[in-house]
Amino acid sequence: MSAIPSAPADAIARHRELCDLVRHHEERYYILDDPEISDAEFDRLLHELERLEAAHPGLVTPHSPTQRVAGRPIDRFESVDHMVPMLSLDNAYSEDELRAFDERVRKGADLRNGSVSYVAELKIDGLSIALTYDGGRLIRGATRGNGTTGEDVTVNVRTIRAIPLTLHGGPVGRVEVRGEVYLPRASFERANREREEAGLPLFANPRNAAAGTMRNLDPALVDRRGLSAFTYQLLSEETSFAHHADTLAALRGWGLPVEPHWRRCEGIGAVVALCAEWADARRTLQFETDGVVIKVDDLALRERLGSTAKFPRWATAFKFPAEQATTALKAIAVNVGRTGAVTPYAVLEPVFLAGSTISMATLHNAEDVARKDLREGDRVLIEKGGDVIPKVVKPMLPHPEGSRPWVMPSMCPACSSALQRDEAEVVWRCENTACPARIRRALEHFASRSAMNIEGLGESLIDALVAQGLVHDFADLYGLTADRLEQLVVVPKDPRSERAKPRKLGKVGRNVAKQLTQSKQHDLARLIYGLGIRHVGEKAAATLARRFRTLERILDTPAEDLQAVPEIGPVVAASVRAFANEPRNRELVERLGAAGVNMQSLSADSSSEPGPLAGRTYVITGTLSSMSREDATAALERLGARVSGSVSKKTTALIAGAEAGSKLEKARQLGVETLDESAFLDLILRA
Ligand code: IVH
Repeated sequence: MSAIPSAPADAIARHRELCDLVRHHEERYYILDDPEISDAEFDRLLHELERLEAAHPGLVTPHSPTQRVAGRPIDRFESVDHMVPMLSLDNAYSEDELRAFDERVRKGADLRNGSVSYVAELKIDGLSIALTYDGGRLIRGATRGNGTTGEDVTVNVRTIRAIPLTLHGGPVGRVEVRGEVYLPRASFERANREREEAGLPLFANPRNAAAGTMRNLDPALVDRRGLSAFTYQLLSEETSFAHHADTLAALRGWGLPVEPHWRRCEGIGAVVALCAEWADARRTLQFETDGVVIKVDDLALRERLGSTAKFPRWATAFKFPAEQATTALKAIAVNVGRTGAVTPYAVLEPVFLAGSTISMATLHNAEDVARKDLREGDRVLIEKGGDVIPKVVKPMLPHPEGSRPWVMPSMCPACSSALQRDEAEVVWRCENTACPARIRRALEHFASRSAMNIEGLGESLIDALVAQGLVHDFADLYGLTADRLEQLVVVPKDPRSERAKPRKLGKVGRNVAKQLTQSKQHDLARLIYGLGIRHVGEKAAATLARRFRTLERILDTPAEDLQAVPEIGPVVAASVRAFANEPRNRELVERLGAAGVNMQSLSADSSSEPGPLAGRTYVITGTLSSMSREDATAALERLGARVSGSVSKKTTALIAGAEAGSKLEKARQLGVETLDESAFLDLILRA
């Protein structure tokens, strides 16, 4: 604020007025869909604001509407720990399941007769977001991630015009508002038109497009994509309401976007009727919805009902019935995965279903095809549920004349080696580790977001690299130069795009080279996961990295010592040993190391003794004067404790700072020990 006095008083006043006006019209346009002025008039206001700020740079603050889009791409997203886990929702697929949910709620509420008040909201098909406001200013936007840890995507969230940079009225302290970011249908269709023209693979649906956009490192691109958002949850120590309906009204009142079709429903009968209405009416909306979320309105009752580890007991998501269509099954082809598993899939006559054109569907395994007796040439019923991938439900009988039951090919379609199947398994496998199809899939996994996160190294580029003999394994990737990648000719892959022509990678290639260089610095956990050792998922990879610190140590540790680590079972231990015993793998790891790929754990050392507070769980509430909650959480975690967002019988103690609210009350009710700030400091200093 210190720079503001350098501008004359009339400029300061006009600046304030313009900021308010621009926000007002953003709200009319992006939230209410009811503009009061033309686009040209709006642009004039924004330009005036820009000119004023150019003349008086002291007036620019991060909250000015001119500052939504950061100038340049960022290197990566930081991770964010959610103080209160971001849970998922249980699902109900029928009226009976909705009524069963209501029964459970009424039982939990001790209500034999009488009805519960619910709020029904549309379920937005996007990605969840946690917005933090402090003093009414947007200070952070984070993705859900795995529910406990997400990514800081503030730069991208700021570009979403439906999300205010400042609240009007509303809480003065720090609050978190949760909701959903989505891509409106029109923006989705435009994005796919542009991608088709550029020869890029199309987004399968608006949800994938929104999630992909949010994870883009270039805010200018995110801005152009046209994301929007709705909010539906408030976490605040300072402000609370008796009913969810009041929360929604308050969020809207503070200038936040709230999906306007929410309704209060007295009893489950009204909910059932509303769900039936939306099953059809949803097609009229400007965004994709896959159901209705039903929430207990009374917030005190919600507290009493609580949550399981995965979802709240006070809410459920009614999923609209899967949409179905019939089409021709042109062929049954097989796909070879990175572990060599060979799975059949359906090649379909393209058909439009629930917002996208379907030309392929999964068929799970050969037994499934046999059980359904699916034959090439059949007309088949396909359906698309909440998931992206459509499935084949059944053939429409009779089969065409002369058709025969399908049989699994005896040879791998990519390398012609004979397929094998274990007695006990339903899966057929190609056992050839040099099979080009396996190599392609393994490379895709290595480059994937959760592994080495090499953006741009997708299917078509990998296909080109393998087909042109440039890459045979992970280590070869690091021998590729920016010049070589720039000149590389690829054929963009998209079965729906007719226009996919071979083209040079150009600038994209240079970017991939940059990404490859950056990936060398990743934590060991990503590398272990990326190596694709069977049964070693993300979690086991992280545990191994933290516990053993270097890849060399992991590969040299006997199975019984691997297994001695909590969370590492005999299957994972045996699989790591099998990987380590294969000389080809050792050589691969050596070449990765020689290329400069980091082979050490970068995370806090937990290899030694478990921390002095291991096994204890704390909850922090209220304001601590000596440190932020994030620092307090980190301090406890360094000592081996777990920090949770909600008080339960399992909580060791509640750390209560100033103005502690409902959590303190709950701790008292449950008889959980409470520590004030000085007792907390004592705990962490003496531990
Ligand atoms: S409430 C504690 N309300 O659906 C659970 N979620 O399948 C809080 N979603 O992760 C979620 N629309 O991302 C809620 N109106 C709505 C929603 C909604 C979409 C998403 C949310 C959640 C997912 C669960």
